[in-house]
Amino acid sequence: MNAPWKPGGPGQRDPFHAFVCDDHSFDLLRAVAAELGWAPEKVNKGGMRNAVQSLSITASPQILFVDMSESGDPLNDINSLAEVCEPGTVVIAAGQVNDVRLYRDLVASGIQDYLLKPFGADQLRDALAQAQAVFMAPRDAGPERPHCTMAVIGTRGGVGASSIATSLAWMLSEKKKRPTALLDLDVHFGTNALAMDLEPGRGLTDAIENPSRIDGLFIERAMVRASDTLAILSAEAPISQPMMTDGGAFYQLLEEFRAAFECSVIDLPRNMLIQHPHLMTDVNVALVVAELTLASARDTIRLLSWLKGNAPQTRILVVANRVHPGSPEISRKDFEQSIERKLDVVVPFDLRIASQAAKLGKTLAETAKGSKIGAACASLMEQALGATDAAEGVDLGKGAARKGDSLLGKIDFRAMLPTRRKDKAALED
Ligand SMILES: Nc1ncnc2c1ncn2[C@@H]1O[C@H](COP(=O)(O)OP(=O)(O)OP(=O)(O)O)[C@@H](O)[C@H]1O
Ligand SMILES: [Mg+2]
Repeated sequence: MNAPWKPGGPGQRDPFHAFVCDDHSFDLLRAVAAELGWAPEKVNKGGMRNAVQSLSITASPQILFVDMSESGDPLNDINSLAEVCEPGTVVIAAGQVNDVRLYRDLVASGIQDYLLKPFGADQLRDALAQAQAVFMAPRDAGPERPHCTMAVIGTRGGVGASSIATSLAWMLSEKKKRPTALLDLDVHFGTNALAMDLEPGRGLTDAIENPSRIDGLFIERAMVRASDTLAILSAEAPISQPMMTDGGAFYQLLEEFRAAFECSVIDLPRNMLIQHPHLMTDVNVALVVAELTLASARDTIRLLSWLKGNAPQTRILVVANRVHPGSPEISRKDFEQSIERKLDVVVPFDLRIASQAAKLGKTLAETAKGSKIGAACASLMEQALGATDAAEGVDLGKGAARKGDSLLGKIDFRAMLPTRRKDKAALED
């Protein structure tokens, strides 16, 4: 249900009004209303038009039943009704059109239920009981939060991007209770479902093969539920089967996620950026996951530069993962100098927690409660959420690459290597 009919408290409203077009429905509604202790005279003759007229001059009821049989343009009429109906009213519509698309559109417009005529007393009782439950259910009265889309991009293979993506999605859904969608775009080798001990299902494969089928209902059916607040779309596409898509399916999926969830987390393999750069168009925050190695430093620079040119609206967080407490290939200081910005989050290497997570089929963040990894993951989530609020006017950190500058050219990578490797490199010159 969307905003116009989002339920509020009982208040002083009439419990029930109905506007029906035919005698049979009129009699049935009066009888069932009486059963429920509601005034039968609140059942009126006349359908949608009368409902709109009446509600424009009287207070809206808790539950509104409206017959749309005489409505020429149901969706348009529903919008007219939304303009005069106070927030909180739960609306049940009835009509003669047996079309699932209409049903979905009506539900998307805020209708609680749609009864196909002729309906029986039991069907009506059920629908009214459900509407009552919806009306009475406690709701978060807070303001609606805008949807946030976060992409997690590994600078190199195996840096732990998927571990970060699944952890982020888990934390958003569990700790922040935000309905979250996790989209694993590593179509052949993705591990998001595996990390949560789930079967990936065929959802993503179906979406790629048939983008025209993607809509709200598809999302509901195709996504695998990890919990009440977390759903995953992923695949284990056969290795022999190349991915045939122009990317349309992905944009469509993200579009639908925006309507159905509060947060979307995309595990976005960096190769996808080459094929489908437009995937970044609506991403609010990108988490660039690196490790403290030479190759990762180089590719962090290249990715930051690419993002600056191709996704200027996206806030960037650089996350170093699998950071060994001893001596990494490149020190943190050198790494930060080379990418010309500070690391936003440093996640330590912890084999025990990583293998525990794999054994339990839980995300790294869930397994890491109370540890340094847990604290780093929590900081990562807070920063990512903070960054979504400030997603306008992004900059890539102090002194990030300006157009035309080649940061790579300015950096002496060898100088960053530990002495032994440096000596070896010098010998090879
Ligand atoms: N902080 C960490 N400490 C120890 N091990 C970790 C940590 N983060 C991730 N790992 C482990 O590193 C391995 C690779 O992680 P993951 O699959 O998340 O990386 P990836 O970047 O998504 O890899 P790919 O490039 O294959 O997609 C996994 O075995 C994971 O358990
Ligand atoms: Mg991965």
